[in-house]
Amino acid sequence: GKYRVVSTKPMPGTRWINLLIEQDCRVEICTQKKTILSVDDIIALIGDKCDGVIGQLTEDWGETLFSALSRAGGKAFGNMAVGYNNVDVNAANKYGVAVGNTPGVLTETTAELAASLSLAAARRIVEADEFMRAGLYDGWLPHLFVGNLLKGQTVGVEGFKMNLIYYDLYQATRLEKFVTAYGEFLKANGERPVTWRRASSMDEVLQEADVISLHPILDKTTYHLINKERLSKMKKDAILVNCSRGPVVDEVALVEHLRNNPMFRVGLDVFEDEPFMKPGLADMKNAIVVPHIASASKWTREGMATLAALNVLGKIKGYPVWSDPNRVEPFLNENSPPPA
Ligand code: GLV
Ligand code: GLV
Repeated sequence: GKYRVVSTKPMPGTRWINLLIEQDCRVEICTQKKTILSVDDIIALIGDKCDGVIGQLTEDWGETLFSALSRAGGKAFGNMAVGYNNVDVNAANKYGVAVGNTPGVLTETTAELAASLSLAAARRIVEADEFMRAGLYDGWLPHLFVGNLLKGQTVGVEGFKMNLIYYDLYQATRLEKFVTAYGEFLKANGERPVTWRRASSMDEVLQEADVISLHPILDKTTYHLINKERLSKMKKDAILVNCSRGPVVDEVALVEHLRNNPMFRVGLDVFEDEPFMKPGLADMKNAIVVPHIASASKWTREGMATLAALNVLGKIKGYPVWSDPNRVEPFLNENSPPPA
């Protein structure tokens, strides 16, 4: 291979690696056992000559790494993630390194996890499972694990026969069309139609929604978006789901809120000090916690690996070269809109 491409982790599937090899790349995959590579580990991987790197959201891609990559002749960095809060895009631009992310292929997989967490929280699935395994079930009772019925309630994104209220800088036209069409379908079948509304503020969503699912990118404007004050605006028995980034929620305030409001429930895929949880969170019965698996379907993870590889390859070979419909989005720069 003429070009040297490094992947900081083994990635799912074979498509991504075959694409690179077919296009003159020699691929080196780091097989170090430790879960999270340090900046020094990655500098060692980059070495003296490296045309591009495929990296992970756990890595700190800032000034140090982009200057090292640039010194090694590197032109491209593919983040195997849709979120890119681990990447200093301005530093990348400064050193002439293009950055790509992997939008599109995560959308449905993440939505399915958010829905799973909502349902699991509403019906107290994890608590009930623990109860069974502990051998505590000694017969049906009218009040055993009574939870919330989501039908007819209002969700902060999209749900099952649920009304929608959302807040976004951008208008979610497709989502609105979907809910409208679904509402018409229900009406045609003699059921009460679902409705949607774009709220004029996030607080409006927090006050009205029974299920609130968070999906912003993490940046200065969304750090601790959900804080003590905003938690207090939510319904006492609301369900909060976070599949975005941990620091979007003030986790200390959340633990406090969970403690004081036993009917309030939360489903968390991400954590403020990931991989750690704030003290007390693990003891909260009204929290369901899973280890950042929102994008963890085989199809999506292989798609992310492929997109990350295509991003790097496209730049090395002179982007744009790919006509695959799953292909990369344009490279990010400081003017890029947030990924869809
Ligand atoms: C996952 O968290 C991603 O941003 O891809
Ligand atoms: C519950 O199992 C019922 O039959 O009501």
